[in-house]
Amino acid sequence: MATLRLGDVAPDFTAETSEGTIKFHEWLGEGWGLLFSHPADYTPVCTTELGTVAKYKDQFNQRNVKVAALSVDGVASHQGWIKDINETQNTTVNFPIIADENKKVANLYDMIHPNADNNLTVRSVFIIAPDKTIKLIITYPASTGRNFDELIRVIDSLQLTAYHKVATPANWQDGDDCVVVPAIKTEDIDAIFPKGYTEVKPYLRMTPQPNK
Ligand code: BEZ
Repeated sequence: MATLRLGDVAPDFTAETSEGTIKFHEWLGEGWGLLFSHPADYTPVCTTELGTVAKYKDQFNQRNVKVAALSVDGVASHQGWIKDINETQNTTVNFPIIADENKKVANLYDMIHPNADNNLTVRSVFIIAPDKTIKLIITYPASTGRNFDELIRVIDSLQLTAYHKVATPANWQDGDDCVVVPAIKTEDIDAIFPKGYTEVKPYLRMTPQPNK
């Protein structure tokens, strides 16, 4: 198994899920994807995470992002646990949970880190662009629930780069000024960024967020 890196094509697979069989690339279609693994069903941190993701459905839809979770538990386990998530997190799970009992997908995406746990997936996150390339990889430990506001923030940043030719500075939040990507020559900025720009240094050019 080769290590996946940013820019690699996200491996395609066919898998059983809590919402039926999916062919991953076909299921993603033309949009963006968020694939994330959790260690196991019926565990406390995972229960809060999946409930949170269900509540973020509108935010993912607004950004044209399809979400899929994964663990090495089976479909029946996922379906039983979903009832608990819905009950305890006051939500309705509205995305597929991949049932990766044979660890096929976990191995494709290197989601099992044997020195952390030999059998269970860690909390891996992959953000996948419409061209199916991987734009973000983050790995969290089993004991730390993810910050899904941060993942939304990164999706917004990635989409600003993809669609508006800007990058985002440290601790950027939606609405803050953005960084003109280095590939754009200063003499071309006026034509591309009608809101103007500030040249702090020749290599550091700031512009108001283009899509606001
Ligand atoms: C949890 O989801 O709560 C969890 C799972 C595995 C290890 C630690 C915590």
